[in-house]
Amino acid sequence: MGIRTLGAKTLSADLGNWHDQPGKRTAARPIYRALADGIKMLVHDGRVPLGIALPSERELSLVLGVSRSTITSAYALLRDDGYLVSRQGSRSTIAIPARSESSARPSLSAADAVVDLSYAAMAAPQQAIEAAYAAALESLVRYLPTHGMEPVGVRELRDVIAHRYTARGLPTTADQIMVTSGAQHALRLLLGVLTSPGDRVLIDHPTYPNALEAIRRVGALAVPVPVRPEAGEGSAWDLDGISSAALQTSARAAYLIPDFHNPTGLCMDAAGRARLARIASDARMTLIVDETMVDLWLDQPSPGSVAAHSDRASIVTIGSTAKSFWGGLRVGWVRADPPLIARLAGARAAVDLGTPVMDQLAAAELMRDDAQLLNERRAQLRVQRSALLEALAEHLPRWQPTVGSGGLSLWLRMPDPVSSALTATAPSYGVRLAAGPRFGVEGSFERYLRLPYAQSAEELRRGVEAVAAAYATLARVDSERAGFVL
Ligand SMILES: Cc1ncc(COP(=O)(O)O)c(C=O)c1O
Repeated sequence: MGIRTLGAKTLSADLGNWHDQPGKRTAARPIYRALADGIKMLVHDGRVPLGIALPSERELSLVLGVSRSTITSAYALLRDDGYLVSRQGSRSTIAIPARSESSARPSLSAADAVVDLSYAAMAAPQQAIEAAYAAALESLVRYLPTHGMEPVGVRELRDVIAHRYTARGLPTTADQIMVTSGAQHALRLLLGVLTSPGDRVLIDHPTYPNALEAIRRVGALAVPVPVRPEAGEGSAWDLDGISSAALQTSARAAYLIPDFHNPTGLCMDAAGRARLARIASDARMTLIVDETMVDLWLDQPSPGSVAAHSDRASIVTIGSTAKSFWGGLRVGWVRADPPLIARLAGARAAVDLGTPVMDQLAAAELMRDDAQLLNERRAQLRVQRSALLEALAEHLPRWQPTVGSGGLSLWLRMPDPVSSALTATAPSYGVRLAAGPRFGVEGSFERYLRLPYAQSAEELRRGVEAVAAAYATLARVDSERAGFVL
């Protein structure tokens, strides 16, 4: 099998405005180094896959509009730093260096294992998961005489999910629920059924990166509408902007996270939800409301489902066990009208024939009686959020956090647009990050970083110290080159 080669246009699009990064202070940074840093960031973000060959130097120089020698030098730097490896007789391919990229970087001992702050997801509540699977194994016996394929999900889980919605003030029956293998699966199925290539889909900006990827993969175009933390928590969503964007672009759908939004943790107020429902109905736009984070309220609960503000079929809600309980369960769902559920089940058959029965039964066990477990998870998150804020105040006092009333992460505004460079360099200091631009379109959010508080207070402190060390070096190197002082 030949080696896959990355297209020059794809690389150029993913790089965005690489030459401006990380900001004015890099004016004196050689252009080849800026390019190499941009490619490193894409490797760490998973946008440039491992094992792929980069475009030919000639092709990339044409597409980026820089000299061939710039590309040659950037590739040489990537090779020196271990991001490009050559096997005899074949082209160089992308790798992640085994060790830090520069001898000036600290060497990490085994005790300083890398803190992974690139994921916003907690470890499993071990005892509860074990108990749920033990009970599920007993229930499984009832399913063994059947063929076991349940495209819309087993009835007992759909009943539990419907009951939860009803208890939250949104009357729901089991035939309005389809169980999926996670909320991401639910979103992908919905986009496949509701949109065609070229359709516009409104999104919160910033938003959950894998949602952006799903929108891209179906050939739809994400239309960003800003979430503005400075407007205050409940009003951070620009509803006028959503309304005009819906009408101007004839958007087919909108994908929004009004409940403890990823990455900001913000929650839309009740008035905003009522208006949002009206906007969707007036614009004949299907609203996909992602409630994955809804159980993770830390200061006050969500004011209620957006779908409760409308009896129209145009509001579809997706949910998941991933954040409330454990990402490894891979159980999520869609709440929609039965005709849409039927269309989704039809579309699903081309991809899979159902979520494993055992996992569905374990999810039903967990959700049937989850009040105490969720209280414990929220208490743990409050402690961790405080620890993260304290560590940031001590080590990075100039970074401004958005603190929402729930969720799993802080969205931080840095004094300088260095998010990609910081993310590229951070693993050498013992921490893995997700760069701000991953949460937006067209290279936005270079001044932002998401830091989750899903890990222990001790790991968070270590992580922040590592981020501060990486940031300090970055600032020093840049100021030495450009004569700036941070
Ligand atoms: C807002 C949001 N939606 C969906 C998902 C994916 O959920 P799942 O693991 O159930 O596919 C995540 C996970 O990070 C998320 O943050």
